[in-house]
Amino acid sequence: MTQVTLETISNLAKKRGFVFQSSEIYGGIRSAYDYGPLGVELLRNVKEQWWRSLVQQRNDVVGLDSAIIQARAVWRASGHEEVFTDPMVECRNCNTRHRLDKLEDPEQCPSCGKRGTFTEPRQFNLMFKTHMGPVEDEDNLVYLRPETAQGIFINFENVRRSNRMKLPFGIAQIGKSFRNEITPGQFVFRTREFEQMEMEFFCRPEEADEWFNYWVEHRFSWYTDLGIDPDKLRLRPHDADELSHYSAGTSDIEFLFPWGWDELEGIANRTDYDLKQHTEHSGEDLRYFDQETNERFFPYVIEPAAGATRTTFAFLIDAYTEEEVNEETRVVLRLDPRLAPYKAAVLPLSKKPELIEPAEKIATELRRKWMIEVDTTQSIGRRYRRQDEIGTPYCVTVDFDTLEDHAVTVRDRDSMAQERVSTDRLLEYLSGLLDR
Ligand code: GAP
Repeated sequence: MTQVTLETISNLAKKRGFVFQSSEIYGGIRSAYDYGPLGVELLRNVKEQWWRSLVQQRNDVVGLDSAIIQARAVWRASGHEEVFTDPMVECRNCNTRHRLDKLEDPEQCPSCGKRGTFTEPRQFNLMFKTHMGPVEDEDNLVYLRPETAQGIFINFENVRRSNRMKLPFGIAQIGKSFRNEITPGQFVFRTREFEQMEMEFFCRPEEADEWFNYWVEHRFSWYTDLGIDPDKLRLRPHDADELSHYSAGTSDIEFLFPWGWDELEGIANRTDYDLKQHTEHSGEDLRYFDQETNERFFPYVIEPAAGATRTTFAFLIDAYTEEEVNEETRVVLRLDPRLAPYKAAVLPLSKKPELIEPAEKIATELRRKWMIEVDTTQSIGRRYRRQDEIGTPYCVTVDFDTLEDHAVTVRDRDSMAQERVSTDRLLEYLSGLLDR
């Protein structure tokens, strides 16, 4: 197992165009990051796999894409306006601000090392505020959503009615969320703008425990099925004092990040908290009517809530491997092919037009199915190394023999084994390796 440092992975992410610091040419802000040409593919593939697993491959979950800006009343009802806060302290010596509950020693400032310099803790609300329309007053105040979940709860009845959903059923959503974190950090792990992948699964209250266990197991397997080393994953039930205001029980799926175990995803039993709150505040009856039993009741909700950007980061860290090959260090991103930005790279051995032309033709054919790169720069050895470093599962080399035998060499990223494959069979050959 390669132990990658935060510095190594963030350097690779920048060098190879996965992730850039936002506003870098102005000195950068730590709150947000930009996803470069490879990062955007990786992030999209992660979201795509989540969507397939939670929506498209099931009959009991449907999707939604709700607005980021919602009525302020939503956040009053959900409890976020009142209690979505973190305890903040400020160091009187160096003026840095810290989250009290995350400090190793609550008496000592981690920035300047001084003891006893903290102010009294203050509850700091994490929601970003803005104003709707030209008048910046209290009446026009709105928030950027801090979770995608509320967009689902307020559409519960719309979705149920329009799609004739019967319990148990789920509504899934992927999208941006915003939190004015006191201490963003650890690269893209904790940012102020990020993406979430959340699903609210509505069920009968007496079935909630069973569904909770089902979703914990389902979500854990999703990570391992996509290649995360099971030794770097663990489940951690929350203690009573760390539960969110809406939760009757939460288990986190944690990943072994370079700084230690930390949260990837939380699976919570939100009970009937949200539907009840929105019924009370909006006046709309969000109870479910069961035609078979003639009962009207508030369903319970089991919520697997993952971070898309944080999960993408974990896949990058987990995939990073260094190995010695011919007395040189080879860096390989052993990404599952479903997540890899490019599925194959087509590499003409020389820049001569007689090789570039068939290489382009092969790439065009393969692009009917996959994201393909054609790379013509540098020596073939260096091009292999670059593709290894960005996780491309297969390299297709076009050489002068190709002009005679109409075959190419396919190189496997992980084993570096090479096989000669005829060009007219190439699409089928790669489909056999890549399609799942
Ligand atoms: N709807 C429930 C909810 O939002 P959460 O545990 O606060 O629960 C869910 O967030 C997931 O969203 C986290 O497990 C994490 O992966 C991601 N997440 C939360 N805050 C984040 C931040 N500041 N930066 C990046 N990802 C974040």
